[in-house]
Amino acid sequence: PLAPTGELVTRAAAARSAVAAFNVITLEHIEAVVAGAESAGAPVVLQVSENAVKYRYGRLLPLARAAVAAAERAAVPVALHLDHVQSDELLRQASDAGFSSVMYDAARLSYAANLAATRAAADWAHAQGLWIEAELGQIGGKDGRPPLDAHAPGARTDPGRARDFVAGTGVDGLAVAIGSVHAMTTRTAALDHGLLGRLSAALTVPLVLHGSSGVPDDGLVAAVGGGIAKVNVGTALNIAMTMAIRTFLAAHPEAVDSRKYLSVGREAMAREVTRIIGVLSRPPA
Ligand code: G3H
Ligand code: ZN
Repeated sequence: PLAPTGELVTRAAAARSAVAAFNVITLEHIEAVVAGAESAGAPVVLQVSENAVKYRYGRLLPLARAAVAAAERAAVPVALHLDHVQSDELLRQASDAGFSSVMYDAARLSYAANLAATRAAADWAHAQGLWIEAELGQIGGKDGRPPLDAHAPGARTDPGRARDFVAGTGVDGLAVAIGSVHAMTTRTAALDHGLLGRLSAALTVPLVLHGSSGVPDDGLVAAVGGGIAKVNVGTALNIAMTMAIRTFLAAHPEAVDSRKYLSVGREAMAREVTRIIGVLSRPPA
């Protein structure tokens, strides 16, 4: 059934576990995430990013309607989250389209501007009954921009600032920059677990890890143990889908029915979803 994101994240945080949140672009992504979560027997978040909406000719509703329908019929709780929203116009569509949460991304702005814009977004979101996540520090690698050096001083989230930011904006969850980078195709990101510990101690809101595709399994397990309650995964599903389709098409040059290869890609994504949820439920070493 359709479930509110806030409930899934709060429950995960209370249990010192994490809910997996997967970025969906196509109907196959949606079906794969739901099937993979059902196999794992765990709740899941389906998230649609502003970039995915741009890919869908700027329209949120077609994908949102498919996600709502898939969530309603799922055997596990499925929440809908609007991810990396920069446009106020898109933000305002969230509730009507069936989303129970948004991530408002003003991390590219100066600290003062990020705070002001995020506070306005949070006031609006709360009036709508939406759970809202924001970002402080910069998790680089979005939009195909050269990845910011994840270890550069400005790229990390400062615990003192984070506390002021959460108090000043009223956000319900915070995406923290602790060494992960978006769109990595190798699992080689080194997370700063010491910083995560300091952030966890300084904040009471659930923390969110972005760019999780680049984090090795043991890094994910340690991050969950260290206070991450929502783990955002996008690229790992695209890798699984693309590799599987590439292999299939190379072996079947005669194939033209799109269902033949999309189903192979969908199954590969579903397996990856189940695998990642399994990693997140491992006890920390
Ligand atoms: O918000 C989305 C996530 O941060 C996805 O990052 O594609 O590197 O896994 P990723
Ligand atoms: Zn992200």
